Amino acid sequence: MKKMFCSFVFCCLCFWRLVVFADAVKNVSVKEGDSVTLESGVTQIKERDLITWIFEPLKTKIAEIDKDAGIFKTSDVPDGRFRDRLKLDHQTGSLNITNTRTTDSGEYKVTISRSTGGTTTIRFNVTVYARLPVPVLRRDCSSSSSSSCSLVCSSVVNVCDVTLSWYKGISVLSSISVCDLSISLSLPLEVEYQDKNTYSCVLNNPISNQTTHLDINTLCHTCAEGHAPCCDSVEAVLRLAAAVLLVNDVRAARGQMKKTEEI
Ligand SMILES: *[C@@H]1O[C@H](CO)[C@@H](O)[C@H](O)[C@H]1NC(C)=O
Ligand SMILES: *[C@@H]1O[C@H](CO)[C@@H](O)[C@H](O)[C@H]1NC(C)=O
Ligand SMILES: *[C@@H]1O[C@H](CO)[C@@H](O)[C@H](O)[C@H]1NC(C)=O
Ligand SMILES: *[C@@H]1O[C@H](CO)[C@@H](O)[C@H](O)[C@H]1NC(C)=O
Repeated sequence: MKKMFCSFVFCCLCFWRLVVFADAVKNVSVKEGDSVTLESGVTQIKERDLITWIFEPLKTKIAEIDKDAGIFKTSDVPDGRFRDRLKLDHQTGSLNITNTRTTDSGEYKVTISRSTGGTTTIRFNVTVYARLPVPVLRRDCSSSSSSSCSLVCSSVVNVCDVTLSWYKGISVLSSISVCDLSISLSLPLEVEYQDKNTYSCVLNNPISNQTTHLDINTLCHTCAEGHAPCCDSVEAVLRLAAAVLLVNDVRAARGQMKKTEEI
């Protein structure tokens, strides 16, 4: 019986600790380049209040306020990633990070020692999401047939947390999401020439997206069908050069696709 009671108390303690812990971590998402303010939760700093901000990934103090001693300062980490981008609100002790970069992601901790006694700690889990490029559509002439047009939507991104999808109207047809060092996402789609649906390729992360709409009429009539014979020798040389470039392009694209398939 006693043993049961002990485990009950132990569980309660664990649970209490979990709840307190969960409450004290705030998730903050921000788009690269935007600014963000981490709120200290204080409305007005009092004399003898001490506030310290720590960037946890490097265990480095990045800001402190000691009103009594007249200290209100921010300081960079050794690698200089915050250079001129940290601002302290002198009234609340909140920390504003301007022009955010993905390398600002991580946990931030503020500790507030009140003059009235007691210490509060708030943790912020900050995630800075990279700006997304617009996905690129191209026709895949090598596998298009007379009745259907093969397309590829692709995007080169150097971050995780992104998904590339084909939409037909508002429903997802297919999507791909890879997290690897060399991230080149590409996703095929086959459409009939006469298809009247609206298709779009969307690249998205948890907070934003970039969309490219497919215009079948334009994109599905761009495969080179061979050129009319031409007489100007300069133009012929230029065409030859262009053809070589095109072949190289296609080869590069194929290499890229192979790589993507291997992932
Ligand atoms: C913060 O994010 C983590 C992981 O995504 C999640 O488990 C947690 O519940 C979130 N916390 C809050 C307060 O939303
Ligand atoms: C952070 O500070 C900048 C520059 O003072 C200001 O423009 C911006 O609005 C602040 N950001 C937030 C989220 O308060
Ligand atoms: C912080 O947030 C990110 C993105 O939501 C999540 O993947 C990560 O697990 C969180 N970390 C913590 C310590 O909550
Ligand atoms: C893309 O973002 C916009 C808002 O910026 C939103 O209205 C839309 O639903 C999003 N689309 C997708 C496919 O996530």
